[in-house]
Amino acid sequence: MERSIPDTPMLSNRYKLLDTLGAGGMAVVYRAQDMMLERPVAIKLLRQDFSGNQSFRHQFRLEAKAAANLSHPNIVTVYDFGFDAGRLFIVMEYVPGKDLKSSIRERGRFPVTEAVNLIAQAAAGIGYAHRAGLVHCDVKPHNIIVTPDGRLKVTDFGIARALSSINPDEHTDEVWGSPQYFSPEQAAGLAPSPASDVYSLGVVLYEMLTGQLPFTATDAQELARQHREARPVPPRRLNREIPPELEQILLKVLSKEPAQRYRSADQFGRLLMPFGTRNDYTPQTPVEIRSVPPQVYQQPAQAQVNSRPSAQPAPAYNPGQAYAASQPANQVPVSPNPGPAVPQASPLFTPDIIILTIISIVMWVGILPFGAYVLLKLGLLGTP
Ligand SMILES: Nc1ncnc2c1ncn2[C@@H]1O[C@H](COP(=O)(O)OP(=O)(O)O)[C@@H](O)[C@H]1O
Ligand SMILES: [Mg+2]
Repeated sequence: MERSIPDTPMLSNRYKLLDTLGAGGMAVVYRAQDMMLERPVAIKLLRQDFSGNQSFRHQFRLEAKAAANLSHPNIVTVYDFGFDAGRLFIVMEYVPGKDLKSSIRERGRFPVTEAVNLIAQAAAGIGYAHRAGLVHCDVKPHNIIVTPDGRLKVTDFGIARALSSINPDEHTDEVWGSPQYFSPEQAAGLAPSPASDVYSLGVVLYEMLTGQLPFTATDAQELARQHREARPVPPRRLNREIPPELEQILLKVLSKEPAQRYRSADQFGRLLMPFGTRNDYTPQTPVEIRSVPPQVYQQPAQAQVNSRPSAQPAPAYNPGQAYAASQPANQVPVSPNPGPAVPQASPLFTPDIIILTIISIVMWVGILPFGAYVLLKLGLLGTP
């Protein structure tokens, strides 16, 4: 597929393609400049043969519309969608970073806390999409981008579902290039559900923790069979640093039956939290509040990512906060560590107290001789 910048690098008279960020089976992704809003964007330009397919174009627009309504710090924001010179394209937030698959290839397995912190962020984003009624259908590390400061964003929501509108004969293995991460029900040709995304996310976590995929085969059919029937090697056999409780969670997520897994990506993310960086996790009791204070973590991504001067280091990312940000607006986490209430020390010798003390001393000094004099006069004192 053509990866270079097209001859006319301007799309819809607005987006200028600058350089290539990467390519998958169905599209090339470019870094581009939105000339109207003067901001960097990423543009996914679809292959000519897909762009020409009427039903795909229709479905793609529907999916882009649904994805454009998602606004979450762990989801790549969709800005626009267009069709120019016979090519379909999608305009999205530009995320400076690296896709997770490249990092896994480079680094092998990840430390447990780092893997958990990242997957908890992915679970927060995917869980939010599930609550909005959208299933990703193609959760894989290629669709997860991590910024240098550890923020994670999931991309390509709905694109896999749009692809399913294409006649099966037109699919190529390259397009359906993620059978390593497909759920057993997807492998069996059934419709995916939120539980399918939870399974795929479990495969990504397994790969990060052990450095290898739970199922491998050169043949897509064999891979599909393994997802439906085979048991993965228990991850602790491959990495003894995985806590036994985390292994149990991971094996449950990889259950063949969707009902045996966790109900939602949110629940999976919550269960992962205690295995993340200790500082990053504070059990949070939701409390009712009268007025909604500023949210703990708000990132309309583009504004923050790009407006930050490059010399200024980004603040450390806190997955616990990202999770809190995905919770209903009328519930906020209790402040992480309020600590015991320390009583304010009240000063003992204030000017008021000193003056009052002097007045009482003077009164007592005056009253005592006067009282003695009265008693003497009355004959009550000094007589036997
Ligand atoms: N919004 C984005 N910001 C920055 N890079 C991106 C963005 N979306 C995709 N990319 C890069 O483009 C590459 C190709 O993406 P894609 O065409 O979806 O193929 P795949 O997901 O199979 O790798 C990704 O691996 C990623 O590195
Ligand atoms: Mg992708």
